[in-house]
Amino acid sequence: MVEAVAHSAPVKIAPSILSADFARLGEEIRAIDAAGCDWIHVDVMDGHFVPNITIGPGVVKSLRPHSAKPFDVHLMIAPVDPFLDAFAEAGADIISFHPEAGPHPHRTVQRIKSLGKQAGIVLNPATPVDVLDYLIDDIDLVLVMSVNPGFGGQSFIDSQLRKIEDIRRRIDASGRAIELEVDGGIDANTAPRAIAAGATALVAGTATFRGGPDAYAANIQMLRGA
Ligand code: DX5
Ligand code: ZN
Repeated sequence: MVEAVAHSAPVKIAPSILSADFARLGEEIRAIDAAGCDWIHVDVMDGHFVPNITIGPGVVKSLRPHSAKPFDVHLMIAPVDPFLDAFAEAGADIISFHPEAGPHPHRTVQRIKSLGKQAGIVLNPATPVDVLDYLIDDIDLVLVMSVNPGFGGQSFIDSQLRKIEDIRRRIDASGRAIELEVDGGIDANTAPRAIAAGATALVAGTATFRGGPDAYAANIQMLRGA
C-alpha cells in the first residue's frame, strides 16, 4: 500500500545549477524556486575525482538564503570525508557521494547521518548495484548517473535504465523510503523513461535552464510530465 502511494507521487525535479548563469547564481536559484522546482541540485567538482572544477562550501553558504527548498549536494570530490562538516554547515540537506571517492563509504554515510543530514550514494555508469548491499539500510537516496560525471549537456546512457529498474526492486524489497534520483541527459525524451524505470527524482541542468528565466516554469512542468 505504501509502495503504491510512493509510486504515484509526482516525480521531484532538481535543477542542476551547473547550467545556471554563475554570475547571477542567487537570482537563478530564486527563479527556479519560483518556477516550482522541488530541490536545488548542487554539483561540487574538484578537478581530481572528475575532470572539472565548480564550487565549494563557501558558495553553498552564500546561496543558502536564496531558497528554503532542500539543497541536494552532489559531491564529486576525493577524499570526501574531510569536507562533509563544511557542506553540512553551509546548509546542505542531502549530501551524496561516490563510493569510489574513499575506502570507507559506510563510515561516510555514518558521518553524514551524524551531522543530521540525508545521505545519498551515487553510482557511476559502470558502478555495479552490489555496492548498495550493505548500505541500503542506512541511506536516504540513491543517485544513478546516466552520464559520466564532470559536465552538463551530455547524452543519456541507455544502459542505466536497467540499473534504475534493478535498484527500484531493491528499494521496494527494503521497505524503506529511499529516493531514486537520476542525473545526466534528462530531457523531454528521457525523463518519462527514467520515471517508468522507477525514478522518484530527476536532476536536470540543460533542460531546466534552456531559454532563460521566462522558460523555467514550463521546462520544469515538461520534465514532470504535467
Ligand atoms: C554531471 C552532473 C549533472 C549535470 C547534469 O556531473 O552531476 O548534475 O549538471 O547536466 P545535464 O542535465 O545538462 O545533463
Ligand atoms: Zn549532479
